Amino acid sequence: MCGIIGYTGPLEAQKILLEGLAGLEYRGYDSAGIALCMEDSHIYLAKKAGKVKNLKEYCEQQVTISSHSGIGHTRWATHGGVSDMNAHPHRAGKVTLIHNGIIENYHALTEQFHVQDKLVSQTDSEVAAHILDQLYENDPLVAIRKLASLLEGSYGFCIMFEDQPGAIYAIRNVSPLVAAATHSGSLIASDLTALIPYTREYFVVPEQRIVKLTPYKVHVYNLDDTFSKNYPEIMTVNWNMDAAMKNGFPHFMLKEIHEQPEAMQNTILPRVNKGVPDFSDDGIPDEIFENCNQVQIIACGTAMHAGMVARAILQPVLRIPISVSVASEFRYEEPLIDKNTLAIIISQSGETIDTLAALRLAHQCGSTTLAVVNVKGSTIARESDYVFYTHAGPEIAVASTKAYSVQLAALYMIGCRMALVRGKYTKQDACGFLAQLLDAIPAMETIIGRKEQIKKAAAHIIQSPDAFFIGRGLDYAFSLEGALKLKEISYIHSEAYAAGELKHGTIALISDHVPVIAIATQQHVYAKTISNIREVKARGAFIILLVKENAVVDSELADIQLRIPNVGDPFTVFPIAVALQLIAYYASLAKNLNVDQPRNLAKSVTVE
Ligand code: F6R
Repeated sequence: MCGIIGYTGPLEAQKILLEGLAGLEYRGYDSAGIALCMEDSHIYLAKKAGKVKNLKEYCEQQVTISSHSGIGHTRWATHGGVSDMNAHPHRAGKVTLIHNGIIENYHALTEQFHVQDKLVSQTDSEVAAHILDQLYENDPLVAIRKLASLLEGSYGFCIMFEDQPGAIYAIRNVSPLVAAATHSGSLIASDLTALIPYTREYFVVPEQRIVKLTPYKVHVYNLDDTFSKNYPEIMTVNWNMDAAMKNGFPHFMLKEIHEQPEAMQNTILPRVNKGVPDFSDDGIPDEIFENCNQVQIIACGTAMHAGMVARAILQPVLRIPISVSVASEFRYEEPLIDKNTLAIIISQSGETIDTLAALRLAHQCGSTTLAVVNVKGSTIARESDYVFYTHAGPEIAVASTKAYSVQLAALYMIGCRMALVRGKYTKQDACGFLAQLLDAIPAMETIIGRKEQIKKAAAHIIQSPDAFFIGRGLDYAFSLEGALKLKEISYIHSEAYAAGELKHGTIALISDHVPVIAIATQQHVYAKTISNIREVKARGAFIILLVKENAVVDSELADIQLRIPNVGDPFTVFPIAVALQLIAYYASLAKNLNVDQPRNLAKSVTVE
């Protein structure tokens, strides 16, 4: 959470920072600020509550400032409300800094360093600025090292010292930072989108090192006073700037929904060998699938919902226990995992702190870890034993869409390989499974082509404060994601229920015109789901029914029917996911809400 950018070089820093912040805004968008190093070494500060647009307008109204180095920040509030004062950067004496993360012991440090009376904001970040200023004599490295030894929690800092013009220092613990030295100057940012306009080559700032940016070089220092001999591995971005632009779509979310078929192909096809999944190029050995007696899936939010679908599909095939845990709970539930457990960690960003903590616990328990991650070089990818990279490209809309589809594709492929390796599938079974997975891609395209019909269906939901999603088995697992999508971007209270569970309480909430989005794509529970739909219909619910093309449905059962192509039952999630995403998208649009940046949320949750 929070977007960070720093620049030093020959170009105008203000322009680079403001453009970079606009690209990073999806990481946090309640306030923004920049600090620029002026020619006389004085540091100019501008910060504004609200979107980056506000900051930009404010800066345009000021006298033109020429500067060649500076730092910028978009905030997702943790300590202290949304205000100009709480926005970053924070200044204390010679120090100006921006911060992503949470300083857990900031209260104790406030007292220890007697900074209470100096604080003008309510943030933990400003406390760090004052302490650093106290520790600073004339050597930034010494002061930053001392600061790092005091801090508990997660942080990514970019720091300027008034008497070190043109230099930007950074340090991180958990919170992500990437950096690059380019012909146009040196850059550092919380994620790649801010670097791509200037370079395709970058490195991930290692934890517990200090980096110093000078106009054409990024130096790396150890925390023990030595120059780091091992320069971090230079990585190459595998997508271009177009991928991070709207390209004619009104919203990133709609663009990303449209990108799903391609993202699926990019994720699946390079891993197909003679018709079956093959992960040799990923360096994932078959032994990890052979040598486990249970699978533990760990993730948050949408990624966790992908895990729920995977369990429903794979447990009956693999015949070993597959558990799915919410990462933020996993650590505290004393999980029964050990060296015979394959822990599958799912994360689009690869930086979600709860998921990262769960990964570390899985390691402590001796489990083998396999991460399904979209962002190359992210912390979860680097700390896992093995990585299956999904190839969705950058996902900018806060509500996850294409990342979910490719997470599912990855999990289906992993399951298929595992079934093959464990003798649960013959080669022919595996080929058939994979062929059906590929068949789901045109089915997704078909649903995208029906978006006008879905838009009309969504219009029936927006008058209601509540909506319910129901289904059985796999359809229930899909419902969870449908409900999350709708609530996060339309602010309609939406809940998913296993259809058979409604009558145990929740049906009390069903009254005239309450929208119920019913999913009935699984043949073995179809008749039972239809009975549950009749129960809510009888109580006045407005039914939007999602069924396969070939399903025979009484015309009076549903108010609206949305048909999906006849893919095999285990694969209906792919077209269904697109339909549910479009329902949420059009509901948000009809309510005139900010589709891409819903309130209170941010992409990449790096606080616990
Ligand atoms: C919802 C959404 C979130 C994320 C969750 C995990 O649309 O995007 O629920 O799925 O925050 O994020 P990652 O996958 O980055 O670990």
